[in-house]
Amino acid sequence: MRQKFVAGNWKMNLTYPGALALISEIADQLGAAKPTDPVVVVCPPFPFLSGVGEHLPKGGSVHLGAQNAHHKEGGAYTGEVEAKMLVSVGCEYVILGHSERRQHFREDDALLGQKLKTALAAGLKPIFCVGESLETREADETFDFIAKQLKDGLFHLSNEEFAQVVIAYEPVWAIGTGKTATSAQAQEVHAFIREQVARAYTAAAATDVSILYGGSANAQNARELFSQPDVDGGLIGGASLKAADFVAIVRSF
Ligand code: 13P
Repeated sequence: MRQKFVAGNWKMNLTYPGALALISEIADQLGAAKPTDPVVVVCPPFPFLSGVGEHLPKGGSVHLGAQNAHHKEGGAYTGEVEAKMLVSVGCEYVILGHSERRQHFREDDALLGQKLKTALAAGLKPIFCVGESLETREADETFDFIAKQLKDGLFHLSNEEFAQVVIAYEPVWAIGTGKTATSAQAQEVHAFIREQVARAYTAAAATDVSILYGGSANAQNARELFSQPDVDGGLIGGASLKAADFVAIVRSF
């Protein structure tokens, strides 16, 4: 069944004490979850996962996610982190295909395909990101671009595997720029993504998949974005680093 989601991507920010302070504040402000609340996920940097996991609010209202995972199942890969390690410190989710990974670390669809498989095999739920650059949008190629990212990166999964995936639409031009997509722009692409899922899988899979918006979403614009029929929540960067803003976004449905 489709779920409302708010996930915080802390990116490469904070120190360990700062991360613990942030999760403690989020826990205090959120309190106990009601069944109607969205699924809330926080994705701290690797070294903070275990400690943040220990400070999650009691009762399971906030879930732990990682920002990346390696595509291999362990071995001689100095400096890397495998999916099973993430599960062993309490992670349930992993962000894959973020535009910053695609751009700065040259992660392509073939690699992301392997990462998805390894993460799913370890029992993680991937938050798989897609999104076009400003150049692509201005060339009026957004839909073709997103369709290709979905087809090459994601749609090789089986029906059972796909059922574990959350999709995030993050237009690159909106990330960290303060230029949020309008709710109409977000809705248009989200509806398109859902249509592609229906074609690749089934109408039920399309109805059930959660599609999050990411890119300068904040406490002021979240309500309008989340009011769109195909926007099931947000993947939040900058605004997830302030407890009050993040909690306000969680309460924006
Ligand atoms: P901002 O919310 O800072 O624009 O970042 C969005 C993002 O990249 C989340 O993954």
